[in-house]
Amino acid sequence: MFISFEGGDGCGKSTQQRRLAAWLESRGREVVLCRDPGSTSLGDAVRNILLHGTELKIADRTEMFLFMAARCQMVEELIRPALVAGKVVLSDRFLMSSFVYQGFAGGVPLESLESTGRIAVDGIMPDLSVVLDLPYEVAVRRIGGRAEPDRMERKGEEYHRRVRDGFLHFARIDPRRCEVVDATKTPGEVEQAIRDKISGILS
Ligand code: TYD
Repeated sequence: MFISFEGGDGCGKSTQQRRLAAWLESRGREVVLCRDPGSTSLGDAVRNILLHGTELKIADRTEMFLFMAARCQMVEELIRPALVAGKVVLSDRFLMSSFVYQGFAGGVPLESLESTGRIAVDGIMPDLSVVLDLPYEVAVRRIGGRAEPDRMERKGEEYHRRVRDGFLHFARIDPRRCEVVDATKTPGEVEQAIRDKISGILS
């Protein structure tokens, strides 16, 4: 089983990813955690360019290719072997993030994302994407205390408002594979909502 966690910055994805992993392990499942972009040597190098290469010129389509390249490597090195071995994979972000950040908010045409995405994931897609939905104002308040904003976080308010709308848009058009969870709730409540959904899939 393959589950991805999606949502804007500050929505609590990584916390929920860890909590779900602990719960699944307590039920005897072997769990592999990853984060997109990252989780391989190449992916970490590309992540560093994408998030901290603030001195680099990166065109919108170049940005798309870099996210796709990191993802492709993660699929081949980590996700596919784990799924073949019967493990549960929990990924902090996956292809949906490219559709939202580079496409819906960034203006790269959907067809470009569909075709490069198909090549990058080569048939490996989440059984479920958990979309943690958070209003822009709440996200800003939550991440306000964090260190320096990274290259993506510097894209401005209008961009990040579109990111939120983008996640809701893509979740709405694929309701069977996407579960939207209200991320303004407490971490415990969000965790329970996710467990309820996963229990249904496991049984
Ligand atoms: P992430 O590590 O989830 O950062 P955060 O913990 O701050 O949410 O993701 C890194 C950034 O990369 C985030 O701003 C979203 C962006 N991103 C894209 O623009 N496209 C993509 O395909 C992915 C996977 C992430």
